[in-house]
Amino acid sequence: MASLDIDQVRACFPALESGYIYADNAGGSQTTQEVIDRIVDYLSNTNVQLGADYFVGVLSTQRVAEGSFTIAELLNAASVNEVGFGPSSTMIFENIARALDNDIQPGDEFIITDEHEAHNGPWKRLAARRNAVVKYWQPTPVSADNPYSVTYKVEELLPLVSSRTRLAAISACSNVLGSLIPVEEVVKALRQRAKDQGARKVEVSVDCVAYAPHRKMDVQKWDIDYCAFSLYKVYGVHISASYVRSAALQTSITSIAHHFLKVDNDPYKLQPGGPGYELAYATTAVMPYLKSLTPEDDLEASFDAIANYEQELLAPLISFLTDAKQVERGVRIVGTSEINLSRVPTVSFVVVGQNAMKSKDIVGAFDKKGDIGIRYGHFYAYSLVDNLRPKLDVDDGVVRISLVHYNTVGEVEKIVEVLREVLA
Ligand SMILES: Cc1ncc(COP(=O)(O)O)c(C=O)c1O
Repeated sequence: MASLDIDQVRACFPALESGYIYADNAGGSQTTQEVIDRIVDYLSNTNVQLGADYFVGVLSTQRVAEGSFTIAELLNAASVNEVGFGPSSTMIFENIARALDNDIQPGDEFIITDEHEAHNGPWKRLAARRNAVVKYWQPTPVSADNPYSVTYKVEELLPLVSSRTRLAAISACSNVLGSLIPVEEVVKALRQRAKDQGARKVEVSVDCVAYAPHRKMDVQKWDIDYCAFSLYKVYGVHISASYVRSAALQTSITSIAHHFLKVDNDPYKLQPGGPGYELAYATTAVMPYLKSLTPEDDLEASFDAIANYEQELLAPLISFLTDAKQVERGVRIVGTSEINLSRVPTVSFVVVGQNAMKSKDIVGAFDKKGDIGIRYGHFYAYSLVDNLRPKLDVDDGVVRISLVHYNTVGEVEKIVEVLREVLA
């Protein structure tokens, strides 16, 4: 398998030239020069309203449509008619939930993971509007030594499934725990259990925001109905992408677009307004960048190379945080401590016990040094952090170090050096 040429990778990102260590990538990634160039190109040469018949209008329409083809390929959607754009994943999930209003019956049950509020709030609000019931699939500890070593177990999901299950909303990757949910396996088990229970209609929504920078998405293989991810975390810009399976688009979704638009089989059904045109076009640069990472010119090969390389970043950080001295000091990883492909290099921890430290103070020490960006808090996975036991101060939350494939082992070693100093 091809490995990443890290110098070549870094040369694509102008922001990395300064040497600043970007370690808050789960918040947002850096952007390639080609993405920036396409924004400038769009605004310089084709910045007119879509749909017009004059020459420039035709060109601008074509460019925005190319953005949708990129998204369809990133998601492996069956058709470009299943994908759309929105200003944020938060907005996309809210729009999907609103458009589902007419297809939810009182007593229907939703099963949701305790993750980012963007993928909890819309379903909770939909349930409240339609008198549906919300059940939570909560993460539980895997290690007796660390109560915060939580992860999702499929055996805890299945008992939640009943004949009334209508929707499951899961996160493919936790933006706090860094752990991946094996979507294909989970959805298969869930659908089988729902069928056995006699469920009428089950749809699955997947939050791919924390997943998409690290692994290849495949909505067909996963057998899911709804999905969203944000390009600003996938080396692009502040625009997000939606997936709605065509069957769901036709039978579950009521249009939230203008009443006179004929959009029954069109993702525009879910888009009450147009996307940022220059941003939609700029997403077309994400695909060639990803494919350029390996000689195969293939998305799967590139994500395999990313996943393998990220293990090298994970190892020194997890090894430091779990060594006997740090454990004695009170360091506890929030999430699992495995160094394997079941997680991405988003690593959260707290310092508890007699010499407890506030997450804010740990991050503050990094901020004082001025050359490494990390962050603390609940990262909008509010319920996840709120439900951890022993209870944490939710607003102080966890310290999160989140890396992607353009980070280097040298950078991780520098982060570990500062941690060693701060925790001494
Ligand atoms: C897992 C997860 N889901 C959803 C979101 C919300 O995405 P957006 O900022 O595009 O609304 C985030 C943002 O941090 C996230 O990490």
